[in-house]
Amino acid sequence: MSTARTDAFPADFVWGAATASYQIEGAVHEDGRGESVWDRFCATPGKVRGGDTGEVACDFFHRYRDDMRLMKELGLDAFRFSIAWPRVLPSGRGAVNDAGLDFYDRLVDALLEQGIEPFPTLFHWDTPQALEDEGGWTARSTAEAFVEYAEAVVGRLGDRVGFWATHNEPWVHAWLGHSWGWHAPGRTSEQDAVAAAHHLLLSHGWAVEAIRRRCPNAQVGIVLDLAHVYPASSSPEDEAAAWQVDGQGNRWFLDPIFRGSYPADQLERNEVVAPFVHDGDFQAISVPIDFVGVNSYRRFLVTAGAEGPRFISDPELQHTEMGWEVYPDGLRQLLVRVAKDYAPAAIYVTENGAAFGDVRGHDGSVHDPERTAYLETHIAAVGRAIADGAPVKGYFVWSFLDNFEWAMGYSKRFGLVYIDYPTLERVPKDSFHWYRGLIAEHRDAPRPAPVVTGG
Ligand code: FCB
Repeated sequence: MSTARTDAFPADFVWGAATASYQIEGAVHEDGRGESVWDRFCATPGKVRGGDTGEVACDFFHRYRDDMRLMKELGLDAFRFSIAWPRVLPSGRGAVNDAGLDFYDRLVDALLEQGIEPFPTLFHWDTPQALEDEGGWTARSTAEAFVEYAEAVVGRLGDRVGFWATHNEPWVHAWLGHSWGWHAPGRTSEQDAVAAAHHLLLSHGWAVEAIRRRCPNAQVGIVLDLAHVYPASSSPEDEAAAWQVDGQGNRWFLDPIFRGSYPADQLERNEVVAPFVHDGDFQAISVPIDFVGVNSYRRFLVTAGAEGPRFISDPELQHTEMGWEVYPDGLRQLLVRVAKDYAPAAIYVTENGAAFGDVRGHDGSVHDPERTAYLETHIAAVGRAIADGAPVKGYFVWSFLDNFEWAMGYSKRFGLVYIDYPTLERVPKDSFHWYRGLIAEHRDAPRPAPVVTGG
């Protein structure tokens, strides 16, 4: 397997690390923050492993300055974080809570002071509970409220933030949260998922326009969870099963954003979504964007089962603590495919990483060779995607810190930095030191001298 050669990446390639508000901030009752659907979900017995909650999480809300020193040590070009809607608009719409915005104001200033580019996402799943009580994302009015929220945030931070992502992983939020019941708000209706996805997409399009009005120079995009889908064999049945899975997860979002329609082959879903689609929606959703963020952790391997596509995995391959197969070339193929089929202006890999059962050794350090190997081979795959013509401009490790892994609570560690939850002590893992070396090597790499012509 090839290693991550830094000369595969252009000089201005962005090296980053990613997080999300509910997963790291804690301080859920501070400075007027309202309740989010994740607070409610965590408080519902049986929903989150071990009864874990985001109430304290990594306490990033209070410790962000210390964490920023670690970011600086790591050499990050950019830090991806999300803004908690219920801190800004505790009831989802209406009165803006200035104290909530103050936190992000301080955070952005502190990042800029360290020379780290803020890369915020407006929505990483913590919908204000007050909106959920009125139908949440199944209601079109939530898309309108999202624009109000986006305007409040961008109005305050837009003078200093050059990149904005509207949503994180609308597929996960719509289906895990609204059809499968695994995530907040815990709904279990396929129709709710389809409606939620439509309203997430619609609010994305509306928000892009609202952000552009205030910040004409900002780079604006959306973050999707995508996975390259491989048929288990070249049989027509397996190929059809893979195409079906691709349609449900990848094309259901890429097509409306880049082509202005849902994929026609998704017959059942098209029927379910039809009543939610109003005139002009596709025009709004397909507003041009400056980048697409790609979160990808694994490929999918699919075979035709009696009751539809069946996910399988190759037992010969390594699997992470999440049970996810490790298959770096899937990331290359995915990026090349997105570039070829949808021609985005730019792609950022906004999340990629792996959970392993990290433990602290007797000397206090954390050795995580599997994570380093995962990152190295996946970053190499990104390099190959660039060589194959994909316009990838940056890469963000998920995650900067170990954190609250949604329904899995604190049982899954993805961080470059280990969190000792009882004390909240931060311990950079070996992978942190490896990533730091990679970034430094890239920064110091000799570049060809510019060609001087004329004279
Ligand atoms: C993604 C989420 C992120 C994190 C990783 C492991 O689906 O965007 O918050 O949970 O998976």
